[in-house]
Amino acid sequence: MPDAATMEKIVALCKRRGFVFASSEIYGGIGSTYDYGHYGVLLKTNVKNEWWRAMVRERDDIVALDSAILQHPKTWEASGHLAGFTDPMVDCRACGQRFRADHLGELQCPQKPSKHVGDGPSCDLTEARDFNLMFETTMGPVKDSGATVYLRPETAQGIFVNFKNVLQFSRKKPPFGIAQVGKSFRNEITPGNFVFRTREFEQMEMEFFVPPDEAPQWYDFWKAARRDWYAELGIREDHLRLRDHDPDELSHYSSATADVEYLFPIGWSELEGIANRGDFDLTQHAKFSGEKLEYFDPQTKDRYVPHVIEPAAGADRATLAFMVDAYDEEEVEGEQRTVLKLHPRLAPVKAAVLPLVRKDDQPAVAQEVYGALRGLMQSEYDEGGSIGRRYRRQDEIGTPYCVTIDHQTLEDRTVTVRDRDSLSQERIAIDALPGELAARLAAPWSSPKTA
Ligand code: GAP
Repeated sequence: MPDAATMEKIVALCKRRGFVFASSEIYGGIGSTYDYGHYGVLLKTNVKNEWWRAMVRERDDIVALDSAILQHPKTWEASGHLAGFTDPMVDCRACGQRFRADHLGELQCPQKPSKHVGDGPSCDLTEARDFNLMFETTMGPVKDSGATVYLRPETAQGIFVNFKNVLQFSRKKPPFGIAQVGKSFRNEITPGNFVFRTREFEQMEMEFFVPPDEAPQWYDFWKAARRDWYAELGIREDHLRLRDHDPDELSHYSSATADVEYLFPIGWSELEGIANRGDFDLTQHAKFSGEKLEYFDPQTKDRYVPHVIEPAAGADRATLAFMVDAYDEEEVEGEQRTVLKLHPRLAPVKAAVLPLVRKDDQPAVAQEVYGALRGLMQSEYDEGGSIGRRYRRQDEIGTPYCVTIDHQTLEDRTVTVRDRDSLSQERIAIDALPGELAARLAAPWSSPKTA
């Protein structure tokens, strides 16, 4: 059976259930930026928390950082972004639009959609020119060239320029890492595919500083660890792969790069890159700043510039992949349901508390159960509509457990727990419920999706 998920269905679900909206919609939207609504924020926050958990909480050798978006412009000279962070672009004199010169064969002509850009009858393309992807702005009130600054196009450079601070204050020595999550900005010529490629997005990057002779083994370690992170959070194995870059694909700073790729409805696409950046960044920043960015080992008396292994992921892209992988459509008791079979740890809401009817003492007991759960896990109380409709609503946002309070609850203080994936219903004592749900949320999980 083909996978039920298509990009159109994901976009529609995101809008219908308030996960993600086009930004500035009341003004007609603004090119390729998106706003996350309640469930979208909860889901993306869970993705980022799982990244922090794997990177920092469960390791002793990585520390956290939150650097500024606006940095000294020399940062971008040293990193090579000012000179080299470009895409080739062409303009069409007929339709007035701009396209990536290296994507022409994949892009539809806006005036003749059955043709690719450049093949339409009226297409009139300029020569390719390099276009820098960094957003420029002005620091302070004077708009002269001295005040030009850039919105960071990656979080990584904020880590490199803080290497010395962190080395001094974290009491770490190589091998050790610095992790950061935050917004990055790229003036992409052809954004698209919903939140897959946008101009404002969130990255989850970690720079791992190692003795130079250990770089190859740490590169292999992080390649495997990062692929496994997605698999442990439920991405189906046959929709996940590691792809080594060919030598002609490598960035100027990298001696080896591999991508973790996911089989999106648009085909295999990058989720995250793992790069062996060598000593490029620290050497460049040392040269441009005049600071020594190296490590002195007091035991061996060795002084060296650490090499860097970088796993660089996108929070929005990962969130999209988890949604696509979880999306399913099924028939349940003669009715169609749309369900997000998300890993319970990623699910925006863990438990929904539903009184079967809005009478007797059921709402009061349901509020008591809700009160006991909400301090432990993201929970929701819902008493509106038929129980079937309420189940469907929770299925669509991926809530793993629906807790129903019924007439029997009033007699024996047990509730029904409905499992989102197996649809099994089990009676559990109210007093045991918080512990039982917490244990289930912590248990290993694999996707029940078969397609
Ligand atoms: N520091 C290295 C670096 O930034 P990258 O491959 O350009 O590497 C890392 O970016 C990750 O950031 C990508 O794998 C992707 O998940 C995410 N990303 C990059 N550009 C993006 C965009 N325009 N929209 C959404 N996510 C993006």
